[in-house]
Amino acid sequence: MFLEEVLDSIREADRSGPLSDKGGDVLDGLSGSKTVGALQRLTALFATDPEACQEACYVEIGVFQGLTLLSVALNFPDFPCFGIDNFSILDPEGENLGVVRARTAKLGVNNATLINQDFEAALESLDGRLGGRKIGVYFVDGAHDYRSQFIALMLAQPYLHDNAVVIIDDANYAFVRQSTRDFLAAHADYKMAFEAYSPDHPANMDPETLKKWESGWLNGVNILVRDPEGRLPQMLPPTELDRTLYVNDWLTHRHQLAELAPEALNLAQAVCHNDGAREADCKDKLLKRFQQRRKVYDLRNPDRNTYSAGLTEGRFNKLIP
Ligand SMILES: C[S@@+](CC[C@H](N)C(=O)[O-])C[C@H]1O[C@@H](n2cnc3c(N)ncnc32)[C@H](O)[C@@H]1O
Repeated sequence: MFLEEVLDSIREADRSGPLSDKGGDVLDGLSGSKTVGALQRLTALFATDPEACQEACYVEIGVFQGLTLLSVALNFPDFPCFGIDNFSILDPEGENLGVVRARTAKLGVNNATLINQDFEAALESLDGRLGGRKIGVYFVDGAHDYRSQFIALMLAQPYLHDNAVVIIDDANYAFVRQSTRDFLAAHADYKMAFEAYSPDHPANMDPETLKKWESGWLNGVNILVRDPEGRLPQMLPPTELDRTLYVNDWLTHRHQLAELAPEALNLAQAVCHNDGAREADCKDKLLKRFQQRRKVYDLRNPDRNTYSAGLTEGRFNKLIP
């Protein structure tokens, strides 16, 4: 029955978007309306069930200015909701924590707990926070690099409810889809219930196209559900077979100037497009960043850095007596 309800809830979100317009005058952010609707409707499956509402909770990584966290919390005032964010990106003025607090107060929300911490540290010590509850709905919308996406799925395992539903945002990105795929390939008890993509990242959309997708799934989603009885067939997000970019990860990580990769690529882009003005600007930025960290780079090899200092030459584990 539960899987049918999950699929119906997503179908309803796809058809009608958010559950209600509560908070609509206060909340905006970086997730699509259908994504918000899915989070709300999937949370309803736990929050409105007499047993599940006592043992489950909502957890999200990536609060930003509170759209998703507060849109869920506001609709289910007796259901505990947790949002993890360290406000490390998309916050140039350092104002997002204050925005979330002000919006929480304005909406009179009392069931949303903000965990202002790096998500990995937060997940490693989540036990003490959840008061014995398991995560019914888990929204992954924080750091989008491959490792962060994958570890966010892995570290949550001990906390997930038997009927957990996992919503992974920004699945338009190939490496987000790859981490979903890798997770599903290694966890036969999870299945993908739904996937949706838009034609581009919102930053590359014209205003009219952006408006359309803001009321949809914006930058794409993958929705996973626990299915230990194997009622759903395997359905995997599309990924590239070419490993070049993942091999490039390794080549970048070991390079003396690894941290300068974004600046170096911007310079390469200007050079390749024969854009002289931009080339000069990118070169300035690259050299400035290089000078800022030069002392660190000078301690490294030009390539094949292994960071072996302090590693043991051999260490045995010991059996517990
Ligand atoms: C796309 S925004 C989230 C959008 C949000 N769900 C909404 O409703 O608008 C991504 C958020 O992830 C947070 N983030 C990025 N890396 C993080 C990390 N290592 N630990 C915790 N939060 C992180 C950023 O600070 C940012 O606020």
